[in-house]
Amino acid sequence: MAAALPPGPSEPPAIQTARWLLRPISFMESCRRRFGDAFSVNFLGFRSPMVMLSDPQAIRELYTARGHGLPPGRGVALLPVVGARSVLLLEGGEHLARRRLMLPPFHGERMRAYEAIVREVVERDVAGWPQGEAFAVHPRMQAVTLEVILRAVFGVTDPARGDRLRDLLRSLLDATTSLRLQFGFMLARRLGAPDPLERLRALRREIDAVLLAEIADRRASGGGEDILSLLLEARFEDGEPMSAEEVCDQLVTLLVAGHETTATALAWTMELLTHHPAALAWLCEDEDSDGRLKAVIAESLRLRPVVPLAGRRLASELRVDGHVLPRGTDVTPAIWLAHTRADAYPDPFAFRPERFLDGASPGYAWVPFGGGVRRCLGAAFAEMEMRVALEVVLRTVTIAPARSDPERVARRNVTFSPRHGTRIRATRRAA
Ligand code: HEM
Repeated sequence: MAAALPPGPSEPPAIQTARWLLRPISFMESCRRRFGDAFSVNFLGFRSPMVMLSDPQAIRELYTARGHGLPPGRGVALLPVVGARSVLLLEGGEHLARRRLMLPPFHGERMRAYEAIVREVVERDVAGWPQGEAFAVHPRMQAVTLEVILRAVFGVTDPARGDRLRDLLRSLLDATTSLRLQFGFMLARRLGAPDPLERLRALRREIDAVLLAEIADRRASGGGEDILSLLLEARFEDGEPMSAEEVCDQLVTLLVAGHETTATALAWTMELLTHHPAALAWLCEDEDSDGRLKAVIAESLRLRPVVPLAGRRLASELRVDGHVLPRGTDVTPAIWLAHTRADAYPDPFAFRPERFLDGASPGYAWVPFGGGVRRCLGAAFAEMEMRVALEVVLRTVTIAPARSDPERVARRNVTFSPRHGTRIRATRRAA
């Protein structure tokens, strides 16, 4: 077996980075055509090439080996926002201990407890949608997923505290997505200008003050059904709970990881449904069928994976596709390429939810939530939220596309997002 990284494009890193940022799908497609299932890319700011994989067997090998580390970069961008104890940033034993503690509240069967919250939040939002006029549905879904997290995860019931927290969290989310901040951060490093991350740190301190007050009240009065209460009750293997400060880190982590991702996945699902009227009609003719809704969600996450890369830094060598990737190599599934393989999905670019109806799992050819010991903690929550939200929308209004051509993919932070925010027209159904 050759001990070299797989081949890849020879353009300078600046060009490869620009192609990835501007036209990620066509960049990956052209790499697949030229180099096959595994290839190496060079991005600006990375000291070594990153290997992208799309063969399900290779992805399985990557995800099921437990010791691999995190890819570079995650900490730089996220540390001031989510904090040093975040489950997103810890590695090894410290990470696994948090996962064990945080998994039970996110277990699939527990999700029923949150359906009523999602239903109520979506019903209220849809009631305010314009009648028959074009509007972008992505921002509406962002408002919905923020409210759902506030209620189901943070569980804040005091109205004044809830309003304060909502404002602060919105500012934090806006600040993390602002381009000015991203460029400001790079400039500050080069020129020694004031550090724009200081604003994020100040916001985090204000958020923590509100959350710590909430935690103190909750400890005094006993918990509810929300995830904050469950995290306060949870114990590490030595019987100790998480400190209140750590609980704050994990709550902000859940917000950052779960808000934009789920809103974007919902926007893509509505984009695909409005542009595929036969699939929309198929779904609506059997509205009570959870099976069809789940199939539509699985197919949307296949064709428009929201998170395109979920990689690892190898802790031990990995043999894939005739290559031996040495320890220390950064390796990631190219999720969109894995999801559009003709050997896993007949007619791979067609939106055909029926392919997910029989319940057969496509294994590691379907990895919108990553895999292994770092697989998305909130996957069951996201699927529940999407299912309930779609059910409410389709029961209340009929939806149609407001643009004739399908949305192109735009990169927004770490997500693939619909460039124009999925513009639709909604018409209220007769009672
Ligand atoms: C459709 C919506 C979502 C998508 C597509 C998504 C996708 C992902 C992906 C790809 C990862 C990285 C997995 C890996 O490296 O193997 C991840 C991690 C994570 N997600 Fe999600 N996610 C979604 C919703 C949520 C929600 C609703 C929550 C919580 C409320 C959440 C919490 C997390 C956490 C805590 C991690 C870190 C897990 C770890 O490092 O152990 N996600 N997600």
